Amino acid sequence: MSAQNTSQPVRIAPSILSADFSILGDEVRAIDAAGADYIHIDVMDGHFVPNLTFGAPVVKSLRKCSKKPFDVHLMITPVDPLIKDFAEAGADIITAHVEAGPHLHRTLQAIKAQGVKAGVSLNPATPVSTIAHVMDLVDLVLIMSVNPGFGGQSFIPVFDKIADVRAMIAAQNRPIDLEVDGGINPQTARQCIEAGADVLVAGTAVFGDGPSGYADNIKALRG
Ligand code: DX5
Ligand code: ZN
Repeated sequence: MSAQNTSQPVRIAPSILSADFSILGDEVRAIDAAGADYIHIDVMDGHFVPNLTFGAPVVKSLRKCSKKPFDVHLMITPVDPLIKDFAEAGADIITAHVEAGPHLHRTLQAIKAQGVKAGVSLNPATPVSTIAHVMDLVDLVLIMSVNPGFGGQSFIPVFDKIADVRAMIAAQNRPIDLEVDGGINPQTARQCIEAGADVLVAGTAVFGDGPSGYADNIKALRG
């Protein structure tokens, strides 16, 4: 399906993984002012992915820096025991990976039980069929276009997966975000939008030039 069939406008979710961690609150305020639609927060456990970032207390302290939706991408396993902490810290969307626990359906139920939006993420090697039977529970599908763990990696073409998920969303007949994460720049953003994506995560492409570039960088990703 093409962008013309995307029912929601394109939104940009800067990933604070590429921000200056020594002034993280200022960075969140800056991307908010620069036009970010979501604040994308990459939570890594050094186990599911080979990197460590931040936990729920950091999310809670950043909450006062922006009213924009906090899009919390959990790259942790087991994920279920920490869902409540992130919801109480102020997450608006909590996304778990298909591989993050033994029972994806239960995980998504647990997220929704906290009163927040539920997302599910597919690694580059994870087939879209793994989410076919949970589409009724999800508010967001996150397609990884890099292997999770680090910013600044090269984009892996996932256009066929984006198109397949767009068709699955159309069959649900309600708004579900279709987000792509990893290696997004103005060129790959345009390609993802054409394939059916409507939320683009970007770390390097937003934060790369320092605060004076944030607004222009976000604008350049809108396609
Ligand atoms: C990777 C993270 C991404 C990452 C994107 O595991 O989920 O959100 O920050 O960074 P860039 O845009 O630099 O590829
Ligand atoms: Zn992410």
